[in-house]
Amino acid sequence: MVKLTIHLNLILGFSISAILLTVVGVTQFLGLPTQLTLILIVLSIAIVMATGFAIYRSITRPINRIMQAVKEISKGNFDAEINLKGLNRDELGELAFHIDQMKRDLKEKENMKDEFISIASHELRTPIQPILNYVELAKRRLIEPDIAFDTIVTQARRLKALADDILDASRIEGKRLSLNIQFFDINEVIERVLEEKKLALSPEVTISFTPIQDPTVSADKLRIIQVLSNVIGNAVKFTKKGSIEVRCSIIDQYTYLQISVADTGGGIPEEIFTRLFTKFASKSVEQGTEHGTGLGLFICKGIIEAHGGTISGTNNEQGGATFRMTLPLNKRTGMM
Ligand SMILES: Nc1ncnc2c1ncn2[C@@H]1O[C@H](COP(=O)(O)OP(=O)(O)OP(=O)(O)O)[C@@H](O)[C@H]1O
Ligand SMILES: [Mg+2]
Repeated sequence: MVKLTIHLNLILGFSISAILLTVVGVTQFLGLPTQLTLILIVLSIAIVMATGFAIYRSITRPINRIMQAVKEISKGNFDAEINLKGLNRDELGELAFHIDQMKRDLKEKENMKDEFISIASHELRTPIQPILNYVELAKRRLIEPDIAFDTIVTQARRLKALADDILDASRIEGKRLSLNIQFFDINEVIERVLEEKKLALSPEVTISFTPIQDPTVSADKLRIIQVLSNVIGNAVKFTKKGSIEVRCSIIDQYTYLQISVADTGGGIPEEIFTRLFTKFASKSVEQGTEHGTGLGLFICKGIIEAHGGTISGTNNEQGGATFRMTLPLNKRTGMM
């Protein structure tokens, strides 16, 4: 700021000198009396100084406001206000406006991070309590050790899965998800996931699978299994009657592989629909044990998009939901 003041003073000095020279030159040329020349000189200096001061204020005022706000933002105070009132829409006004916008974005991100930490820590705490309870009961010999171990192992697995999901979600958010691309048979992978998920299938539900002819793809096998596990797992969880149809097909003139999972369950709840692929998009646990942490589809979207594909979910007219995933079939993005 000191340097800017020096520069502005120099400009003001040069302007005054130039005007003085001009006034003196013009008055001498016109042969005006000395008194009038003096009055004109004083008047000119006053006008130049007043204009200079106004220009100086119009430049330093917004800079001061911006500097103060940036100092506060750098300390983590995202509530710092840049008073945009009275600022012109010139370059400095524009800069102040963008800094104000950046501050609001940072504040939103900070709030989202706080919310993420608070929900994640709450979710992580949930399986810990039953573990402690069952250890205590087994220690006091109030319960058969085998029963206690079963519950402890189940809850410990839940804890691990949750910790893995939280880690994946933060990797996706930080754009740090790395893929391990390899060739594999997509039909085989889907069949494997279906076999596993069938164990939790309601007796009144049937599962069908339509494979593709040329099943070799190149993608991150474990990540694709993770996606299919969640999407097919959701269909199994939310379908109590009817059928689940998994279908593999080639679409868009052999440019994409599409995997669709259609069920005849209750359909995606209205309140979840708009935030289906966001973090913790789940109903509260009290509303049904099927509803999990709500990180599954957020992670699926991150994985599919990292492969250059898309994922969508819709409710069927005749009931139930359909999820569609596409993966590109060109060498540039890894799929074949
Ligand atoms: N096939 C489906 N039918 C009906 N609702 C669904 C279906 N798939 C997802 N949903 C809704 O979308 C929500 C989010 O799904 P997501 O897989 O992200 O979370 P979740 O299964 O509840 O928990 P998580 O996968 O983290 O264990 C679900 O809780 C459910 O409300
Ligand atoms: Mg899920």
